[in-house]
Amino acid sequence: MTTSIDLRETISDKPLIGLFRLMRDFRLIYLGAALSLGVAAAARSGTYLLLGQFADNILGGETAAQSLPLVALGFLGLAGVTGVFTFISGTLAARTSESIAQRLRNYIYDHIQRLTFSYHDQTKTGELIQRSTSDIDAVRRFFAEQAIGAGRIFLLFIVNLAALLYLNWQLALYSIVVVPFTVLMSFFFFRQVSKAYEAYQEQDAVLSNTLQENLTGVRVVKAFARQAFERDKFDVENWEKFTRGKRLLLMHSLYWPISDILTGGQMLAGFTIGAIMAINGDISVGTYLSYAGMVIWIIWPIRNLGRLIVQMSSGMVSFKRITKVIQQEREPLCEGDYTPADCLRGQIIFENVSFAYEEDNPVLQDINFRCEPGQIVALIGSTGSGKTTLANLLPRFYEYTSGRITLDGVELKRYPRNYLRGQIGVVEQEPFLFSRTIRENITYGIDREVSEDEIITAAKAAAVHESITSFPNEYDTLVGEKGVTLSGGQKQRLAIARTIIKDPCILILDDATSSVDIETETEIRAALEGLMEDRTTFIIAHRIQSVMIADLIIVLDGGRVVQIGSHEELLSQEGAYRKIFDIQTRIEAELEKEIASVEKLAS
Ligand code: GTP
Ligand code: MG
Repeated sequence: MTTSIDLRETISDKPLIGLFRLMRDFRLIYLGAALSLGVAAAARSGTYLLLGQFADNILGGETAAQSLPLVALGFLGLAGVTGVFTFISGTLAARTSESIAQRLRNYIYDHIQRLTFSYHDQTKTGELIQRSTSDIDAVRRFFAEQAIGAGRIFLLFIVNLAALLYLNWQLALYSIVVVPFTVLMSFFFFRQVSKAYEAYQEQDAVLSNTLQENLTGVRVVKAFARQAFERDKFDVENWEKFTRGKRLLLMHSLYWPISDILTGGQMLAGFTIGAIMAINGDISVGTYLSYAGMVIWIIWPIRNLGRLIVQMSSGMVSFKRITKVIQQEREPLCEGDYTPADCLRGQIIFENVSFAYEEDNPVLQDINFRCEPGQIVALIGSTGSGKTTLANLLPRFYEYTSGRITLDGVELKRYPRNYLRGQIGVVEQEPFLFSRTIRENITYGIDREVSEDEIITAAKAAAVHESITSFPNEYDTLVGEKGVTLSGGQKQRLAIARTIIKDPCILILDDATSSVDIETETEIRAALEGLMEDRTTFIIAHRIQSVMIADLIIVLDGGRVVQIGSHEELLSQEGAYRKIFDIQTRIEAELEKEIASVEKLAS
């Protein structure tokens, strides 16, 4: 099943309506399931009518031998029909519910990937995992058990009531006195269980989030020897889940005895009244027997109606939670009316650009600069000064809040996001690699065929080819959990190779060589110089050596540009850049002196 349908048109703030719309393509199958149930219910009632008829015939003087073969055949036939149609309805319902769940799961996964960067910044991974797993499972149960259950209850009730009315209308009416009470009670419990289930699911999300974070950060936990602390933290959350689960169970288990008393009383009253009527001769013994069989099947739906309404609450609460995610705005990837036919030239102008992740807390303020096609722009500044944030504006990961950015003379907002992201290569500050092979990681996101030579050339340019060939499986080595654990520098260099293969028009290197030694950095820089030729490149770095080759160096501090110019220009001025330069050269000189003295001592 594809995910081409847009479920956002389907969902509704009212979960029942949303759930009903979700069945859109499966209504016929569902109708089939309901009809099969109806047939099964009618066949079962028929069995009891036949039983009554048989008893009356015998009591009326007929011999068992006369009618037994026919009656036996009738029983067998009716039992067969009941069985077959119950099976058909179960199969159809299961197929529908699995299909809906599968479709919903695919949709949610696809949708989550399209949500904005800010949504992901604010939302915990554990919660999204829970939406895609246990909440969807509750919706699946809703369709597999509760929706079809509602049909079964309705049909059993109607069919049996009709049969009872046919049998004896007074008896029939006595048997349903309890219905309004059960319905009222069910709704009371429905509200209570909904609340309890919502609280339970919320805590479930907290727990899966705690688990997810601790597993991701297991190294930190071990390194700080905080296992006991984390265990206790988990224990507290787990205890809370247990308490909420207990409350939920209490609600369920309170419901049963109360409903048993109600329906049990009803059944007893029915039997007694029926017996009195039979003794008085108002009804035949056969009718009484039929009644006794059928009344069970009218009490059963009444009793289960309550349970069903109570259980439905979980499907509805879960669906409400899924709805909240589905209602989130997607990042409009194709929005924008300007898509140049050729590669971007790479002229970038920032005019009074400001940006804030959260309102009233600007992270970038009044940024102004201009770079020509093919130039290298370097961003330098203390940590938290806004370098990454500035670079993230270019592929439209975030939208600037005021001012104007133009790319090749066209406002950036006019370029569709997916076009920009295809043209701009970013080597992220903390690159993420998938648990796939090294080859798959290097060629990630490339649609065309990539030759082995190309992969090796890229790896060589990123100075990672030798590390790769030192692994037994070379380029087929698995990265991550089931394979090798790469060092920080190796990860960065793989990310560089991945970007080299992408061959983008604009290059952003966010601290791309921070985890490699100076020698390797020189090697990579030499290789990248070839790549940077003719493409506008943004280099973010802390080392002066990495930025001095740039045509334009921007010094950021607290989200503002404090200095701008070439290396020579900035050195000739008083200011932050010269201070950084002085400190770094002094450290290097001291280091050299130390090394020289150690060497002297050694000789
Ligand atoms: P280094 O990489 O450490 O050198 O810093 P940087 O200059 O790249 O800083 P960055 O642009 O990452 O962050 C600038 C400011 O924005 C910091 O104060 C961060 O706390 C803040 N910031 C970064 N990312 C987010 C985000 O996703 N949400 C919010 N609310 N703030 C963020
Ligand atoms: Mg950064």
